[in-house]
Amino acid sequence: MNNPIPITDIHASVRAFYAERAKNGDGCCAPSADSYARCGAQSANPFHAAELLDGIPEDVAAFTLGCGDAVSLARLRPGETVIDLGSGGGLECFIAAKQVGEAGRVIGVDMTPEMLSKAWANAARLKTTNVEFRYGFLEALPVADEVADVIISNCVINLSPDKPQVFREMFRILKPGGRIAVSDVVADGELSDEARRDMALWGACYSGALDRHLYAQQLHEAGFVDVKIEPKGGAAKDVPMLKGKLFSAAITAVKPPIAARDG
Ligand SMILES: C[S@@+](CC[C@H](N)C(=O)[O-])C[C@H]1O[C@@H](n2cnc3c(N)ncnc32)[C@H](O)[C@@H]1O
Repeated sequence: MNNPIPITDIHASVRAFYAERAKNGDGCCAPSADSYARCGAQSANPFHAAELLDGIPEDVAAFTLGCGDAVSLARLRPGETVIDLGSGGGLECFIAAKQVGEAGRVIGVDMTPEMLSKAWANAARLKTTNVEFRYGFLEALPVADEVADVIISNCVINLSPDKPQVFREMFRILKPGGRIAVSDVVADGELSDEARRDMALWGACYSGALDRHLYAQQLHEAGFVDVKIEPKGGAAKDVPMLKGKLFSAAITAVKPPIAARDG
């Protein structure tokens, strides 16, 4: 992936973008709904079925900055340990917490302090006992080795300036046989330098999108098997420079069990 901007600048810019979203409660970064034009407007959650949102206050349920439904893709089971990468206001963590139950646990990771404050405040309102939120980067996850049964992530990996490192970290924290369920924005082909340099479009989940074949290749290189990238809808239809190049996708993959890795 050609990346003309230094990594620390991208982190700083993305963090400022989401600090603002956390403060205003803006819904944005939902490319399949062409929401770049929607930034600044409150709207209902277009991604999660009503029954998933049962018992979750309306404003918490509406605060999705995602591009799909990673938690349903994960097919969670009671008792599982789930890590949500880029947990934002915490919505998918709260849905996951209901599904894994008291015997399970959910850890959300985010690099934006304003998002973490919002997520913790939401958790207090919901009185959840099996969810926690941690400060940290996808590229250096604050989670020990082989802790997770499942990793979910909704519209975040595209925002990382170092995706191979994110995939290595995901592999590290998964138990052998663990799985990932990711909603993300993905590209058909490489994006231009002009698009890559546009930090507002990067924050909106467009300019950091990785080519679909490279995405699969980098997951394989990190050690994952059974990699599937299923297109879900066109994205960035409202941005002429990116029109027709981006789509939201449902991405799944598995960390091989130890026996399979040992051959
Ligand atoms: C598009 S929002 C998605 C939030 C949430 N997953 C949702 O569906 O509403 C992206 C979130 O990921 C966080 N984020 C972006 N890049 C990150 C990185 N490299 N490490 C940790 N968090 C990151 C942002 O702070 C923001 O809260």
